[in-house]
Amino acid sequence: MLYNCINKETDMAYNYLLLIHSWLRWAFLIAALYAIVRSLNGKLGNKPFTKDDITAAKILIALTHTMLLLGLILWFVSPNVQNALAQGAGVFMKNKDMRLIVLEHPLTNVIAVALIQIGRIKSKKAYEDAVKHNRSLIYYGLGLLLILSRIPWGTSPLFRGME
Ligand code: HEM
Repeated sequence: MLYNCINKETDMAYNYLLLIHSWLRWAFLIAALYAIVRSLNGKLGNKPFTKDDITAAKILIALTHTMLLLGLILWFVSPNVQNALAQGAGVFMKNKDMRLIVLEHPLTNVIAVALIQIGRIKSKKAYEDAVKHNRSLIYYGLGLLLILSRIPWGTSPLFRGME
């Protein structure tokens, strides 16, 4: 069972951070899908790697880093995480909701963020446009799959603040 912290003044910063992290997921998911579809199109159509592809990658990287930063701060200030940690690994590892937000979501997403960043660097370093598209496709695609697999879909609202 997740700890309910709503309506506590001291939790205001947490609530804002969670709200931004929650809503920014949509911008992130759209940016990731857009960059992936562009690289798939580029690869299949043998198209050049254009300025628009670079812009799509830059937006994705900016959103990825923002999500990482917000997520890292959230981990330290979230009453849900802190409450789970206080109960000890023996308790939170046996509770799938707690395990997800304390361990699986943060760890998987840090790995996914690293994959997306590596993909951007490798794509930038490639000489041929086909290789640029290919590397973006593989790394962004893997990153997105990992992130989608560990979003707390079941316990968090799709549109926080509107429920
Ligand atoms: C692009 C990557 C990420 C996406 C798409 C994402 C998405 C989400 C979503 C949708 C929630 C639920 C929000 C809500 O309840 O309304 C959430 C919660 C959370 N995220 Fe992320 N996240 C990402 C990266 C990270 C990272 C890298 C960390 C930590 C290192 C992190 C830490 C957390 C924590 C601790 C919570 C739970 C806060 C709570 O329930 O009190 N997230 N995230």
